[in-house]
Amino acid sequence: MLRIVLGGEDAPQGAATPNRVRATAPARRWHHGGVARIVLLGPGAVGGLLAGALTRAGGEAVLVGRPGTVAAIARDGLRLQSPRYGDERHAVRAVERLELRGDDVLVVATKAAGLRDGLDRVGGTPAAVVPLLNGLDHVGVLRERFGDRVVAATIRVQAHREGPAHVVHRIPLALVTLAAPGCPPLVAALRAADVDVDDAGASQTDVLWGKLTRLCAIALATAAADRPLGDVREDARAVAREAAAVARADGAAVDEAAVLRELDELPDGATSSLRADVVAGAEHELDAIAGAVQRAARRHGLDVATVDRLSAAVLRRSSQFTPVSGTRV
Ligand SMILES: NC(=O)c1ccc[n+]([C@@H]2O[C@H](COP(=O)([O-])OP(=O)(O)OC[C@H]3O[C@@H](n4cnc5c(N)ncnc54)[C@H](OP(=O)(O)O)[C@@H]3O)[C@@H](O)[C@H]2O)c1
Repeated sequence: MLRIVLGGEDAPQGAATPNRVRATAPARRWHHGGVARIVLLGPGAVGGLLAGALTRAGGEAVLVGRPGTVAAIARDGLRLQSPRYGDERHAVRAVERLELRGDDVLVVATKAAGLRDGLDRVGGTPAAVVPLLNGLDHVGVLRERFGDRVVAATIRVQAHREGPAHVVHRIPLALVTLAAPGCPPLVAALRAADVDVDDAGASQTDVLWGKLTRLCAIALATAAADRPLGDVREDARAVAREAAAVARADGAAVDEAAVLRELDELPDGATSSLRADVVAGAEHELDAIAGAVQRAARRHGLDVATVDRLSAAVLRRSSQFTPVSGTRV
C-alpha cells in the first residue's frame, strides 16, 4: 500500500518540512479484530493526533469538523509533529458532515462547548461512541442520542495546535483509558497505531473521576493565579482533596494519596490548557472541569470552598479577555 505524505507549504519557518511519498506497511494488525472505520468528531489537538497516528498505521480515520479546519486539512494534509509518531503530513480525509455507518466507531474530541453543535454534523448510528473530553457531563449529552453505545473514556496526552492542520504532540505519552464494557474495535485500532490503551474494565465513575480529580487541581490552581504549578501547589492539593471527597461521594474509588503524590512529583513549571485558554481569550473548559465538581458537590451536600474560590478567580480573569470563538490557533 502506498500512502501519500503531503508536502508542507505552510510549515513554520525553520521547522523540518516533511515532503515525500513513502510506502507504508500494509495495514499491519489493523484488520485483525474486525477493526472498523474510526470517525473523529473535532479535528483539533486530540482528534488530529489520533487521526494522524491511525492513518500513519494504515488505518481508516475520518475527521469531521467545521469548514475552516476541514478546508485546511483537505488542502495541506494534517501535519502531526510528535516525539512518538514522527513529523509528517498525513492525507487524512476531513469532511464537514458524515452519515455514520453501523460499524463505525465515533470518537468525540470537541471541547465541551462544541459538543452539541458538533453532533449535528453526524447522522446515523455508529457501533460505539467514545468521548475523550475532560469532565463528566458530556457523557449524559451523548447518551441522550446514542444510549448505551456510549463508552466513557479519557485520554492522557499533551498536545496543542500550531495551526488548523498542524498538531504538536509535546511528550511521548498517549494513553486512552476506556471504561467497561470497552470497545474492542477501537482498542485494536489504537494499539495498531501505537497508542497505549487501558481497557481493564474500570467503571465509568472511576475512569472519569480518576482523571477529573487530578486535572481539576492543576487546571484551577494554575489558571486562577496565572502561575505555574510550582507557585500554587498548596491550592492544587486543596482542590485535589475536595474533588476526591466529591468523587468518593459519587461512588468513585479515587486514590487521594496517589493524586496528591502525583501533584507533588510534577515539575514546578507544569501548567494547564485552562490557564493557556484563559490567557489567550479562547473558549475554555472551566465549567466542564470545575463546574462538574461543584455540581456533584451540591448533589452530595459537600463543601468545596477552594474549588469555588479558584473558579471565581478564573472567571474574573477570563472576563478580562475578549472571548474568541473556537480555538487559540
Ligand atoms: N489537548 C490535550 O492535550 C488534551 C489532553 C487530554 C484531554 N483533552 C480534552 O480533549 C478535548 C479536546 O481538546 P483539544 O485540545 O483537542 O481541543 P482543540 O484543539 O480546541 O480541538 C477541538 C476541536 O473541536 C472542533 N469543534 C468545535 N466545535 C465544533 C463543531 N461544532 N463541529 C465540529 N468540530 C467542532 C474545533 O474546531 P475548529 O478546528 O474549527 O476550531 C477543534 O477542531 C477537550 O475536552 C480537552 O479537555 C485535551
